[in-house]
Parts: sequence; C-alpha cells; structure tokens
Amino acid sequence: MINLAILISGRGSNMKAILNFAATKKIITPTVVISNNYDAAGIKIASKFGIDTIIIPNIKDRRIYDKKLEKVLLKYNITPKNGLICLAGFMRILGADLTKKYKNRIMNIHPSLLPAFAGLNAQKQAIEYGAKYSGCTIHFVDAGIDTGPIILQAMVKIKDNDNHISLAKKILRKEHQLYPKAINLFATKKLIIDGKIVKIINHV
Ligand code: GAR
Repeated sequence: MINLAILISGRGSNMKAILNFAATKKIITPTVVISNNYDAAGIKIASKFGIDTIIIPNIKDRRIYDKKLEKVLLKYNITPKNGLICLAGFMRILGADLTKKYKNRIMNIHPSLLPAFAGLNAQKQAIEYGAKYSGCTIHFVDAGIDTGPIILQAMVKIKDNDNHISLAKKILRKEHQLYPKAINLFATKKLIIDGKIVKIINHV
C-alpha cells in the first residue's frame, strides 16, 4: 500500500476530493496533511477525516524548509520507495534536493493546460490572453515551476462572458475528478514514465 501525504496552503477542496477517493477506493493510505499556513481552511477538513495535520510555517530558506518537510514525511513513513506526495494548492516551490529524492513521487495540480499559463493566477492569465480553452494539469514535480512530466489533463471551454472567477470554478470541478484519477493510475501501477513522457497503460 502506498502512503500518501497531501500538502495544502488554503481551501483544501482538492485535498477533500483525494481523501474521499482514498476512503472509498482503499488503494492508498493518507497518513498526513501538511500545511505551510496556520489559517488554511483545509486543516479543519483534514481533521474531520481523522488525518493528522502538521503545520510547517513558511520560511525563506528553501533548503531548511524542505529538510523540515522531509523529516515530517519520513516520520509518517512516506519514503521515496513507498510514498506519494500530492500538492493540492500548496503555494510553495520545492527545491531540487527534495524533488530529486522523491522523483516521480510528488504530484501537483495546476489550473491550466500546461505548459500554457504556468505560475501564479493561471486562470487570470488564460482570460487575459484571450484563450478559448483552458483546464487543469496533473504533473510530477521536478525542480522547475510547473515543468514536470504531465500525467493527465482536462479541458474546459472559455466562453465570452467568463471571467477568471467563473473560469476557476469550472476548472475546479474538473480538478476534483482529475486528481483521484491520477492517483488511481499511480497506485495501480498504470503509469510508465520515460523522462518527460508519461504513458498510461490501456489509456484510450
Ligand atoms: C486549485 O485551483 C489548484 O489548481 C491551484 O490552487 C487551487 C487550490 O484549491 N493550484 C495552483 O495554482 C498551483 N500553482 P484547493 O485548496 O481548494 O484545492
């Protein structure tokens, strides 16, 4: 069984979707939710699921922060061999040491069709660019910003009357479906990873 850590910074709606999935599918064991923000609304939700929550408050030094993070991960038996770390609205960049150690074991969700609109405010970027479609991406995390191997994407149409708020809502509905799907593929060993390319066994 894979041990799962979920990292959040705020609302935690993706975390909730993942925890609901884990409770019904039972192919992955959520052991800890980690937040860099004391006020993250998701912390209360995690407690309702009976999952331990740990706060590691933000500090500037990425190496020191990541070391603290790694210590908590290992305490909860989330190792590079048996663990999966899901970033779910975790608004902090992980450094190269940690992402190398946990290569292809850290997933992130981003609210755009990468490589378009990486970084902050992806939905606003899409609206301001005049894109006709956007969506969300689940990818493995490498040392870059939103650059790791893409696992799954889902698309939404941008209508003339959409703004970044309505677009974010549409995308979020897709996110809640996509993250459990990606975790399921990972846990059932359906992902074949070859450098930047992730292939899915029996994917149609
Ligand atoms: C989600 O839309 C997620 O894609 C985004 O933050 C939101 C978190 O919502 N992540 C990023 O922008 C990362 N670059 P949630 O806390 O309700 O899951």
